Amino acid sequence: MMTRSRKFVILGALGLAAGAFLSAPAIADPNPLCPVCHADGNATALPLYPKLAGLDPVYITKQIDDFKAGRRSNPVMDEIIKQLPDSDIPATVAYYSSQVRTPDEITDKPLAAQGEQIFKHGIMAQGVPACANCHNDDGSGTFRYPRLAGQHSTYVINQLTNLKSGDRHNDFGQMSRVAMRLTDDQMKAVAEYVSGLK
Ligand code: HEC
Ligand code: HEC
Repeated sequence: MMTRSRKFVILGALGLAAGAFLSAPAIADPNPLCPVCHADGNATALPLYPKLAGLDPVYITKQIDDFKAGRRSNPVMDEIIKQLPDSDIPATVAYYSSQVRTPDEITDKPLAAQGEQIFKHGIMAQGVPACANCHNDDGSGTFRYPRLAGQHSTYVINQLTNLKSGDRHNDFGQMSRVAMRLTDDQMKAVAEYVSGLK
C-alpha cells in the first residue's frame, strides 16, 4: 500500500486538489516507473509502447505475470517488470484498466477501409477468421481477448509480426494461427482500422 504522505506528494505533482481526490474513487496511482513509457495509458512515449488504458484487468494481470515468468519476452519490459513489486500489481492494474481509451486519428482512410473488411469478415481465401469473432464487434475486447480499439497501429503491427514469427507465444496458440495467415500489407490495413475505433 502507498503511504498517505506519498499519495499527497504525487497529487501535488499532478496539480490535483486534495478535495477532488478525497471524493474520487480510491484508485491509487500506478508504480512511478510505468508512466515513463505508458503515461496515463493513452499518451505513450512512443507508438511502439502500447496504450494500457481500458484493457481488461484480467488481461493486464496475465501479461504482467507472463513477462515476470518469461512466457512473454521483450528486452525493455523484461527488465522493467522485475522492478514492479507483486504488492503493487493490483493498484497498477486497477489504474490502467479504469482509464478511458482515446482513439488515434486515422491517416489513411482507404487503408482503414480494407482493414475494416478483414476485421469484420476475415479473409475467406486465406482462412483468416474475422477479428471481431474474438475481440468483439467494436474491438473492445474481453478478459481473454485484448482490446484493440484505439490501440497504436505501430504497436498492433509489431505484435502481429511477433505472433506470426513466434517471438510472442503467450496466446493459447490462438492468435498465432490467425497472424501466420496475414501478409504485411493486411496487418497494416487492420492495424490502421482498429487504431481509430472508439
Ligand atoms: C521503458 C519503457 C517501458 C516502461 C518503463 C514500461 N513499459 Fe510496459 N511496455 C513497453 C513495451 C516496449 C511494451 C511492448 C512489449 C512487446 O512488444 O511485447 C510494453 C508492454 C506492456 C504490457 C502489455 C500490453 C498489451 O497490450 O499486451 C503491459 C501490461 C505493460 N507493458 C505494463 C507495464 C507496467 C505495469 C509497467 C511499470 C512497472 C511498465 N509496463 C513499464 C515499454 C515499457
Ligand atoms: C480465435 C480468437 C482470435 C481471433 C479470431 C483473433 N484474435 Fe487476436 N488475440 C487472440 C488472443 C488469445 C490473443 C492473446 C491473448 C493473450 O496474450 O493473453 C490475441 C492478441 C491479439 C493482439 C495483441 C494485442 C495486445 O494488446 O498486445 C493483436 C494485435 C490481435 N490479437 C489482433 C487480431 C487481429 C487483427 C485479428 C483478425 C485478423 C485477430 N486478432 C483475431 C485471439 C484471437
